[in-house]
Amino acid sequence: MTNTKSGLGYPVPNAADGGSEAHVSCILASIAIFLFLTLTPYLDRGALRGSLRNDGLFHEGNGDDSLSGAVKQEAGKSMPEPYQVADPQGQRPPVQQQQPQQQPQQQGGQGVVNPAQQQQQEQVPMPRPQWTFEVKDDVYFDPAGPRPDQVVLLMASDGKGHNGGIEHLFEMAMANRQEYADFHGYKFHFINISRYDLHGAHPVWAKIPALLDTFIHFPDVHWVWWLDVDAMIMNPDIDLNSHVLSHAAMRTKFAAGTEFLKSESKHTGQYMSGRADPKEIDVIIGQDHNGLNAGSFFLRRSKFTKMLLDWWEEPFYVYNQWPGKEQDALLHMVEHHRAVREHLALVPQRVLNGFPVGWENMGWHTDDLVVHLAGCWVDNACNERWQLYWNSRTSVVDLKAKGQERPTDRRGMVTKILPDATVYVPMPEQALDGGRGVVADAT
Ligand SMILES: *[C@@H]1O[C@H](CO)[C@@H](O)[C@H](O)[C@H]1NC(C)=O
Repeated sequence: MTNTKSGLGYPVPNAADGGSEAHVSCILASIAIFLFLTLTPYLDRGALRGSLRNDGLFHEGNGDDSLSGAVKQEAGKSMPEPYQVADPQGQRPPVQQQQPQQQPQQQGGQGVVNPAQQQQQEQVPMPRPQWTFEVKDDVYFDPAGPRPDQVVLLMASDGKGHNGGIEHLFEMAMANRQEYADFHGYKFHFINISRYDLHGAHPVWAKIPALLDTFIHFPDVHWVWWLDVDAMIMNPDIDLNSHVLSHAAMRTKFAAGTEFLKSESKHTGQYMSGRADPKEIDVIIGQDHNGLNAGSFFLRRSKFTKMLLDWWEEPFYVYNQWPGKEQDALLHMVEHHRAVREHLALVPQRVLNGFPVGWENMGWHTDDLVVHLAGCWVDNACNERWQLYWNSRTSVVDLKAKGQERPTDRRGMVTKILPDATVYVPMPEQALDGGRGVVADAT
């Protein structure tokens, strides 16, 4: 296929050498033809609308391998390069949604859906365009935190990526999450992101439909925990309510009043509220030197979250060349929209998402819940580090061998972050205010 470099780059040096007028005009003509051929599809209003259509932007998966970038990932790169912004018209997936009449050119052969192909592709219900999830008017969020069966741990991947060369990463990550969920009674959900047609967007954007999909698939679930494949649960006895999901735990863990930072720790001038109300919090996330890190975060079923997921896949974000992709999109919303800030809580990085290296509240410590091998490819150390952490983690088998059949009962206790460890301490007084975080309710 022609690309801009070979198309334009080749004739220009010759033009400088030759200097003949005929030669130059011949080159100019070639350039004009090239530009015409290249730009025509993008000037077509229908094509533009097609690629930037916001309704169910990603949700029309047709089983094609639009995520092959993840497969072709090279060693030493955690992510493939961004995809082309606009997908060429000929490669666009079948248009399943009824198009307005002024675009008859889209209704041709491309609009045909192969029923056999459609049938073989899905075991779980396929999301429809403009899908969203339900939030019951009378949904009750217990200040003590959700019941275990109201929590889903979500991992999404196509299982094929090179993953920085980590051997058996996918299988190990699956087992790691499954045993944790089983031990606590949480649900573990895996989604094969190959099912989403991302319209040429980078595979990390599959996160948004995967989250939506999970809220739809588990209508009674209150909280979804997104955890990247290259993260590992290190201390599976930690239960999520005493850790971060009860209001009492939120009050001690939230980094209230902290400034949101952008890449290279640049200031945004915007802060998490110093008086955040746990009842209003729908997103719990940490930040590192590149801004928000969406490798491990919690999302609560709420009307706000419905809107957030809708906004998050805004085409202007998706097809922007932001280095942090979906994370930068979230940070953009946080920085520029008070409504988003009011529903989002920062926690120190280590609470959900400790890194192998990093400053005090970023680097993983012995008793922390999760280690996330973000950025390990920089040192080409992914496989080595993963195996090291795998061997030093506590598994549920280890817990049971020590006679621990159930999660630690930490009623009335919350975790506290110290420089060397995360310890459990009695719930502080301010955690009991307003009658919402009553100790006796904590389960
Ligand atoms: C995900 O789906 C693709 C396409 O159907 C398949 O090739 C791949 O093996 C699947 N991955 C997993 C982990 O199931």
